[in-house]
Amino acid sequence: MSLKDLAKVELHLHLEGAAPPAFIRGLAREKHIDLSGMFDADGGYKFSDFWQFLKVYEAATETLKTPMDYHRLTLAVLEESAASGVIYSETFLSPDFCGNRDLGAWREYLQAIQEAAEIAQKTHGITLRGIITCIRHFGPEKARQTALCAAETAGDFITGFGIAGDEKIGKPKDFRWAFDAAREAGLRLTAHAGEWGGPDSVRDALHDLEVERIGHGVRAIEDLALVDELAEKGIVLEVCPGSNIALGLYPNWRAHPISTLLQRGVKVTISTDDPPFFHTTMAREYDRLHDAFDWDAGQFRAIARTSLDAAFCDADTRARIR
Ligand code: HPA
Ligand code: ZN
Repeated sequence: MSLKDLAKVELHLHLEGAAPPAFIRGLAREKHIDLSGMFDADGGYKFSDFWQFLKVYEAATETLKTPMDYHRLTLAVLEESAASGVIYSETFLSPDFCGNRDLGAWREYLQAIQEAAEIAQKTHGITLRGIITCIRHFGPEKARQTALCAAETAGDFITGFGIAGDEKIGKPKDFRWAFDAAREAGLRLTAHAGEWGGPDSVRDALHDLEVERIGHGVRAIEDLALVDELAEKGIVLEVCPGSNIALGLYPNWRAHPISTLLQRGVKVTISTDDPPFFHTTMAREYDRLHDAFDWDAGQFRAIARTSLDAAFCDADTRARIR
């Protein structure tokens, strides 16, 4: 069996970060927005480090101005994921980009995204759930407003809350109010940590925000006591190896710690993060991991089970997918 055909569960995907560059160029043309300098000679997104990546990402969102733009984006993204064999996707949604954290506007964007998700469910058999994410370098006040949007729209579709953005700015505890509000609204919690920050960053996210999953988390490997803590507590890592390698965190696939984390008992899952930015897909992640670590279909099936167990969906949804 080809790895492409294996049923995949993705827990860490940024909706805007999954926008195909041709899709963004099309919107820019329609709206007469100048994005020159944002693309390389092959038409891919152009950036040379993480900060520039964030800036190009934010520039791309300038073309995504209406609920209908997000409807089209969601359809395009889910079609691409389904082509890689993804049957369940958890996607980070940002009220920062969808209506500037205004609750009324956010509801309109959310409805458009959900309608697209229903179409994709019927046509491609892929299920989407949304994790609302605040953005660390936008600061705690905007995170607070984002958390209020999240709390007001928590339900069957919006099931989680998280934080992305520049991990070097601020501390997890600065965002405690937002995470407490989200938790009280019944949302499940995850935080990006241990990508650009070291083990202390992961520890702070765990202890100060009380999250059950960590986005990336791979730099926990630099402190084996922390690795043991992750394993003992059953904390799930949303590992995005292709993203880490594209951004220069590790020089190649063999050097990535995912296999060691798994061997030490950590609950590891596989995701793409921002696939077109990092020239990846879920199918490619599987192929590269197979090449690097000789993982077979059984290993990938076990990881997909771990992922579904860790998914922020209700028991009925989980049972339907399994
Ligand atoms: N890390 C932090 N913020 C992000 C990322 C990421 O990998 N992708 C999109 N926003
Ligand atoms: Zn991410």
